[in-house]
Amino acid sequence: MTPGLLQGKTAIVTGAGSGMGKAAARLFAQQGANVVLADLNEQAAEQAAVELNRQQALVIRTDVTDDDSVKEMVSETLETFGHVDVLVNSAGVAQVFTPVEQLSPEQWDKIMNVNAKSVFLTSRHVVPFMKKRMRGTIINIASIAGVRARPGLNAYCASKGAVILFTKALALELAPYQIRVNAINPGPAETPMLGQFLSGDAGQAEEQKRKIFLESVPLRRLIQPEEIAQAALYLASDLAKSVTGEIMNVDGGRGI
Ligand SMILES: NC(=O)c1ccc[n+]([C@@H]2O[C@H](COP(=O)([O-])OP(=O)(O)OC[C@H]3O[C@@H](n4cnc5c(N)ncnc54)[C@H](O)[C@@H]3O)[C@@H](O)[C@H]2O)c1
Repeated sequence: MTPGLLQGKTAIVTGAGSGMGKAAARLFAQQGANVVLADLNEQAAEQAAVELNRQQALVIRTDVTDDDSVKEMVSETLETFGHVDVLVNSAGVAQVFTPVEQLSPEQWDKIMNVNAKSVFLTSRHVVPFMKKRMRGTIINIASIAGVRARPGLNAYCASKGAVILFTKALALELAPYQIRVNAINPGPAETPMLGQFLSGDAGQAEEQKRKIFLESVPLRRLIQPEEIAQAALYLASDLAKSVTGEIMNVDGGRGI
């Protein structure tokens, strides 16, 4: 058997209990990585880990908005696997379409904290260990909504725009340490999150809103979580040795 693209590597995947994070954890493990499934929903992460070789998989209940929780998750990863090579930030929350005057400061903070502050917190705790080894890759799952706005998704778009610029700033900052930092912008994707974007607006039927998402994609298809996992695998592997600061759209052309 040929060795996998991530043989011997350790990858932390946040949001690994569902959708894209779950697909990345599965693919990375198939490619030989030890995988840490870090999710607030421990039960979902445990369920995702059932499909994996348990020697390769570690589930850690983590709240990515909480500095202590993230710190604890990173030290448990190091205790178990000895090092960390890859960080995938996939945990996130959606926003239901909300006019800005109806969005509460608490809703704004939650979206910014889970989607944007989390990426700072995980980077903050992982980077010192990557720096010591002069290697590592960070992959942030942003969104095409971070470059192409939709009405009513004000906080969500802002949170993803922040992730994109943070990715570029970190790519420059960490290049001297051979640490690569990239982001993926998924288009509308077939995961449980899509339902959360769709719900909440009583004015339009769910099916009609799904159609709006679909019709905004030139290739007329919803993105599959496995496609995001494959892009993340490329960025995590040595195939992308010279790629840093890249914001890769995997969006069926939505960003054009
Ligand atoms: N689904 C889409 O249409 C779409 C499109 C573009 C970008 N994205 C982004 O892709 C990423 C993955 O989304 P998905 O569709 O797989 O979503 P999902 O809802 O299927 O999974 C998100 C996971 O994040 C976890 N999570 C939420 N808050 C957390 C917290 N505080 N701490 C730890 N874990 C937490 C959830 O428990 C869940 O398992 C997100 O960042 C999302 O914003 C999604």
